[in-house]
Amino acid sequence: MNDLGSPDRLTETRAALAEAMALHEQGDLEGAELGYRSVLAQGYRAAEVLPLLAGLLGRLSRPEDALAAWDQLLAIEPDHKVALHEQGLTLHWLGRTAEAIATLERACAIDPDNPIAIGNLAVVLADAGRNLEAIRYFRRALALQPDNLHLRHQVRRLGSGSVPFWHIPMMNDAPRNDAFEAAIKAAIGAAGPEARVLDIGAGSGLLSLMAARAGAQKVVACEMEPMIAEMAQQIVVQNGYGDRIKVHAKSSTELAVGAELDAPADILVSEILSSDLLTEKVLDTFEDAHRRLLAPDAVVIPRAASAIGCLVASQNLADYAFVGDVSGFDLSAFTAFAPQRLPIHGTMTAWDRLSEDLELVRLDLTQKKHDATLARLCIPVTASGRAIGIVQWMHIDLWQGVSFDNHPDRYTDGGWLQVLHSFPEPIEVVAGETLDIAVGHDRITLILLPLTESRP
Ligand SMILES: C[S@@+](CC[C@H](N)C(=O)[O-])C[C@H]1O[C@@H](n2cnc3c(N)ncnc32)[C@H](O)[C@@H]1O
Repeated sequence: MNDLGSPDRLTETRAALAEAMALHEQGDLEGAELGYRSVLAQGYRAAEVLPLLAGLLGRLSRPEDALAAWDQLLAIEPDHKVALHEQGLTLHWLGRTAEAIATLERACAIDPDNPIAIGNLAVVLADAGRNLEAIRYFRRALALQPDNLHLRHQVRRLGSGSVPFWHIPMMNDAPRNDAFEAAIKAAIGAAGPEARVLDIGAGSGLLSLMAARAGAQKVVACEMEPMIAEMAQQIVVQNGYGDRIKVHAKSSTELAVGAELDAPADILVSEILSSDLLTEKVLDTFEDAHRRLLAPDAVVIPRAASAIGCLVASQNLADYAFVGDVSGFDLSAFTAFAPQRLPIHGTMTAWDRLSEDLELVRLDLTQKKHDATLARLCIPVTASGRAIGIVQWMHIDLWQGVSFDNHPDRYTDGGWLQVLHSFPEPIEVVAGETLDIAVGHDRITLILLPLTESRP
């Protein structure tokens, strides 16, 4: 039974608290804990003692006990800013992310001008992969503390970390942009300004802006990465087309006629081609668009895309694709894990051509349905050498007479790279002979596999 009513007991308890605080300061954390707990048992100044105890338990690496102390404090003062903030951090430490976020959100709601709490909430959201919310909170914290270099760094880190590096070189790829704009202008010229345009994978909003500049009155765009979608809408407004272009932060598979689109679109513009054509799921996306979002006779830009390639020899690239004896050990078994597809800068990497250019796979994007394919391709060898694989690039057909390619002899520093599809092992080939390979796709990757046994 607490008996602080007696002056002696009160004096004793005060002294016990002073002693516990002195021990705390001297670094005797165990002793201080005992002292704080005895003071709390007397019911003396709990709201002041509990933060000291909770902080000490945190330093003793006892997060569960610290949480219990913060809980006790919050039972006394439910809106205690420090308790909520510290409890949120402790929950994060324990990996209880959802509770940490909820607690820090409460802390920030109660203490909206505290850049430290806001920054910590941003950190936990970023750890949880909720990057858009995280960057918004980091920006809010930065607005409160504009000179805080850590916050400035976090805003940049999160923005650039959420967006693939190739976006900016892709935007600066003038031949690519000009080809798309020529096709978009031609399509809108033919269909008229009332044609409904759908842009799948808006990125910066560039293709939608081109469509609006070409006269399209209504462009519905979607971008599945929310941070990019927010930026696209901002750029659209900054460029004066906010009344004609609406960017939805959604995957195209989440759009519907009757919701984001008032009627099926007459023109699809979409640049979701990866360097090997398929890995951005262009077939799934275009099939879904044809089935649900486009008018039956809709114009599709691009209307076809081909993977082109040639057989190559290269010691440089072989070092990325095969391993053998290293420091006197046989590590060759590790070649089983070699990259099947290695993005390369064709103009910057030394390689020798062992065949002419060949079309490997062609995708007709106006088709409503695509099956996986596999066929035998017989490659005439034009130079003898040690073939390590196929260097592949692409050719895009955008409109009658409008096309684009990233041929490695002339294309450099754009959004696309060339791709080395390495063989499982090098193959010695002889000019005048042929090499048979299996060529096709499984809808999301190209398949390029030699059918010929390797020769010593
Ligand atoms: C290669 S970028 C092209 C950006 C822009 N259209 C341009 O040409 O400059 C493709 C963008 O499409 C987005 N994306 C890919 N598939 C998508 C889909 N099915 N729905 C919405 N966005 C998609 C990606 O997040 C990426 O930002």
